[in-house]
Amino acid sequence: PIVGRKSFAAVAINCAAKAGEWIKTKLGSYVSLNMKFSQHDLVTEIDKGSETMIRNLIMTHFPDHSFLGEEGVEPGPNASLEALDNMKEAEYLWIVDPIDGTTNFVHGFPFFVVSIALAHKGEIILGVVYDPSRDELFIAEKGKGAYVHGRRMRVSQEKAVHESLLATGFPADHQQALPLNMKQLQSVAPKARNIRASGSAALHMAYVAAGRLSGFWEMGLHPWDLAAGSLLIQESGGRVTGLNGEAYHLGIKDVVATSGDIHDELLKLLKEAGK
Ligand code: IPD
Repeated sequence: PIVGRKSFAAVAINCAAKAGEWIKTKLGSYVSLNMKFSQHDLVTEIDKGSETMIRNLIMTHFPDHSFLGEEGVEPGPNASLEALDNMKEAEYLWIVDPIDGTTNFVHGFPFFVVSIALAHKGEIILGVVYDPSRDELFIAEKGKGAYVHGRRMRVSQEKAVHESLLATGFPADHQQALPLNMKQLQSVAPKARNIRASGSAALHMAYVAAGRLSGFWEMGLHPWDLAAGSLLIQESGGRVTGLNGEAYHLGIKDVVATSGDIHDELLKLLKEAGK
């Protein structure tokens, strides 16, 4: 939709490209590194600068919209859902991860992105994930398909887990989540072709949309990790649910995202791993 001078998508692309290019110039030269909720949950001044840049640009174009950004929320496993709850009346809500993959960014491992989504009355209508290291921009608009480099994305064709390359991740509340992560790996790894854990949920989701991975799962994530990626996958023909198979919504923390055909098999393997 066109509001004022620019479309939502044009503003989101502009924000992601500007922030992404700036982040790339700062790789290896951040000055302040802080632990948030745990020693596994990092933040630098570059995360904060990126979020400020994106927020200011969005607010210039859409001053009456609401904004939920990772760095504007108190750290902690449930804080994002509390923040979301306070914004449930918002007509338009932008959901932003200014650097998804901060640990990678800190270590110079080039697998981090800017993730920007827009929800209208709780439904995600726009998702943009920008990978500055490869200059790849993934975009989806509700009902209009998903694209990378201007080419339509389609999920992979694999029909079973044994022929699938999958990805997972280890959430920020590591310590608490690790026993379940290990059980899930033990259940899925012997069945899958192989598993990656590259440290950016949003980029893993974009790769599922692009058919480079057949599936991704991770426990304990936040709306800003998942919102944009979920629309990319749905618009590429894939399926995104919670661990119990419930359709994706902004409050989902435990996500299973696949090309579709392998979804039920992966859900079953994860269920067998227990809770
Ligand atoms: C992190 C990444 C990572 C996931 C963590 C997230 P952040 O996001 O998505 O893949 O394993 O749980 O916190 O903190 O780098 O934006």
